[in-house]
Amino acid sequence: MKPVQVGLLGIGVVGSGTFNVLARNQQEIKRRAGRGIEITMVADLNVERARSLVGPDVQVVNDARAVIANPDIDIVIELIGGYGIAKTLVLEAIAAGKHVVTANKALLAVHGTEIFAAASAKGVMVAFEAAVAGGIPIIKALREGLTANRIQWIAGIINGTTNFILSEMRDKGLDFDVVLKEAQRLGYAEADPTFDIEGVDAAHKATLMSAIAFGVPVQFDKAYIEGITKLGAADIKYAEQLGYRIKLLGITKRRQGDATKGQPDGIELRVHPCLIPVKRLIANVEGAMNAVVVQGDAVGTTLYYGKGAGSEPTASAVIADLVDITRLQSADPLHRVPHLAFQPNAMSDIKVLPMGEVVTSYYLRLRVADETGVLARVTGILAEAGISIDAVLQREADEVSAGAKVAQTDVIILTHDCQEAKMNTAIAQMQALPSVLQPITRIRKEELA
Ligand code: HSE
Repeated sequence: MKPVQVGLLGIGVVGSGTFNVLARNQQEIKRRAGRGIEITMVADLNVERARSLVGPDVQVVNDARAVIANPDIDIVIELIGGYGIAKTLVLEAIAAGKHVVTANKALLAVHGTEIFAAASAKGVMVAFEAAVAGGIPIIKALREGLTANRIQWIAGIINGTTNFILSEMRDKGLDFDVVLKEAQRLGYAEADPTFDIEGVDAAHKATLMSAIAFGVPVQFDKAYIEGITKLGAADIKYAEQLGYRIKLLGITKRRQGDATKGQPDGIELRVHPCLIPVKRLIANVEGAMNAVVVQGDAVGTTLYYGKGAGSEPTASAVIADLVDITRLQSADPLHRVPHLAFQPNAMSDIKVLPMGEVVTSYYLRLRVADETGVLARVTGILAEAGISIDAVLQREADEVSAGAKVAQTDVIILTHDCQEAKMNTAIAQMQALPSVLQPITRIRKEELA
């Protein structure tokens, strides 16, 4: 049987890794796929560089549409990124009857519904293992390995840049801005790191996992997103003293409603810094590594760990999709693994909950004037709101502004579970107290048990 012919759009870090791994392991991959898989055509704006990477046997062009138009190409790999031209090209490849492999989480999290519908109508596959957590086969785990389960929640460290920054902040006791500069110098963070540090990249990935876990459409616009830019070294230190580590988590959870409390069923979809107990394995995932915890009703808790980015780790996921497509392309589309795990006509319309509806516990830090009654006033507001306190810590503030007229102290409070909307009101009331001297820090806490 002649090899499957693959066209590659964009040969950057992941594209060149894909080409190299496919060439290096071609015999094993052929034995697994049942057919050879070859990249025979590459489109890249930098034709010279592309040619130097792939050698003389591969056709190199600067026009992606020439790849899509080539009738010999069975599968198109899109590694251009972004929502712009990549979207147009993916839709054109589908329309031309090509299967598509992409690492583009932004594209699928925002336009996935349109893209998957187009692919289903045309009977082609769109595979995206590389879009979430790089080399970790989490899409396959969710869509296939865990398919027996009613998934209850997923929590993941799914952005390596921010995990690297948080690890450095903790190890070196440095503030965010200092570590970000260092991460950029070392090449861990992009020159424009906005998507990473503001939690957008993690939210793209959490959106895809949420859709697959719960059989809902991709709904990036409903995700709550908070990055790590406001975290201070003090909070990381206090969290450690209380037995917790701060991680940026992408969380999606099934919330069983309670009609007696006026709570509807729903799905939580959120990205924000979290305190998690140091004793959890995921709390010890350091540096640029990724990890995802999945809780299913039958399997219990499972953990997936590995490199979430990089040339060959991401290529590993891209090639797994090429092999999958090669194995399945002759199968009746109805009996292939569906794009989002559930059959397209069996999707749920359960709603993504607004953040105010989410129930979780909290870490609060208040910089207060060290004077009689301040703690009573603060805890009084929480009691009044029906928010139960789990622990309180009072620490002399490390850096008290020069010339401060009053002695200052940090009050750190851990709460039990409460509704986010109630906590927002309580924080606003505490913030209005004259003895509260700075904006209150609030970090959500997840036990992940
Ligand atoms: N920028 C991402 C990260 C890698 O830092 O994890 C690609 O998704």
